[in-house]
Amino acid sequence: MRPATRMEGFGAYFFAALGKKIASLRAEGVDVIRIDIGAPDLPPPDFVVEALVESARRPDTHSYTTYGGTPEFKQAIAAYYRRRFDVELDPASEVLGLIGSKEGLFHLAQAFVNPGDVVLVPAPGYPTYRAGTRLAGGELYFMPLLPENGFLPDLEAIPADVLKRAKILWLNYPNNPTSAVAPLSFFEEAVAFGRKHDILIAHDAPYVDVTFDGYDAPSILQVPGAKEVAVEFNSLSKAFNMAGWRLGCMVGNPDVVRYVHIYKSQVDTSQFLPVLQGGIVALTDERVWPWVAQRNAVYAKRRDIVVNALREAGIDVPAPKASLYVWSPLPEGETDSMAFCDRTLREIGVSMTPGVVFGPHGEGFVRISLGTKADRLREAMERLVAWLK
Ligand SMILES: Cc1ncc(COP(=O)(O)O)c(C=O)c1O
Repeated sequence: MRPATRMEGFGAYFFAALGKKIASLRAEGVDVIRIDIGAPDLPPPDFVVEALVESARRPDTHSYTTYGGTPEFKQAIAAYYRRRFDVELDPASEVLGLIGSKEGLFHLAQAFVNPGDVVLVPAPGYPTYRAGTRLAGGELYFMPLLPENGFLPDLEAIPADVLKRAKILWLNYPNNPTSAVAPLSFFEEAVAFGRKHDILIAHDAPYVDVTFDGYDAPSILQVPGAKEVAVEFNSLSKAFNMAGWRLGCMVGNPDVVRYVHIYKSQVDTSQFLPVLQGGIVALTDERVWPWVAQRNAVYAKRRDIVVNALREAGIDVPAPKASLYVWSPLPEGETDSMAFCDRTLREIGVSMTPGVVFGPHGEGFVRISLGTKADRLREAMERLVAWLK
């Protein structure tokens, strides 16, 4: 069988291949600790699960649901944006429900990028911005995220000829993989930039509710007039430990919402109603906020375990204020993150994500996830520190 040429350059998703390697090591008896994958290990709030179960028991909840999420789900997204960011959204025209935000990142390129259009993507960055662009026939321009700039892109450094052909600017804060955060003033700069150069600003914000030490992450829609040029992707996956539920949204510019909805309606037929109804409870029930605070305190403790161990090993890392990750430079003398992570996996059973997986400027780093229980995380870090000595 010969696949379409657009498939060229796409191998198995990194984590799919890694999963196979880990399964075979475990079959040989190796005790592998996974601190690579960016998924919450803890469950969602009980009252959210109960809402799903109750809804699933009813006989009238098993049919197809409205394309792009039910009106009640969209209203719940709007209520969340009002409660969380003081941002007003029209649920009918400015909110689109997604089967997890990942599909929306991909659909945006399909709906807006023509062959030859340039898409500005952060590097390192979440791989779907790149894959979506390439599969739409667009050209990538990598905006370096560097430690010396606080992992914010230097928008003024983008050449004028690139800007002329640029269609979309991707941003992602709190950031995966660098765990950097952006102040609202940076979003103000980005919105002004989008307006000046007629570029759609797409802000991907799935970690906006995974924050530590009292830090409050902003939405780009808090910038006055942002809806003229921007959309924001959000997700219940990390906010409420609901990654498997596949609940996300895109909000903001109504034209973009409309076209992505049209594209998406050709592809899928929305979600199971009980899942949407559980999502509505997560987004609107006041009990969720003390739950989020407690959950974030758990992550903060795990972050401290990782950061303290790395520092003990002589690796200088800042303690992240948000996200599910610690982005660590490789130890001195190491330059190849893929080879380094392969060695830690085989020699000490510790699986981390090589920075190079996240594209240009990711080399030289590894990503450590906080989605592992404290005792296992501690053991992984002890193995790593001992091995590095
Ligand atoms: C930056 C970023 N965007 C989007 C996603 C996709 O999240 P989901 O499809 O579960 O909403 C992830 C998941 O890890 C992510 O890290």
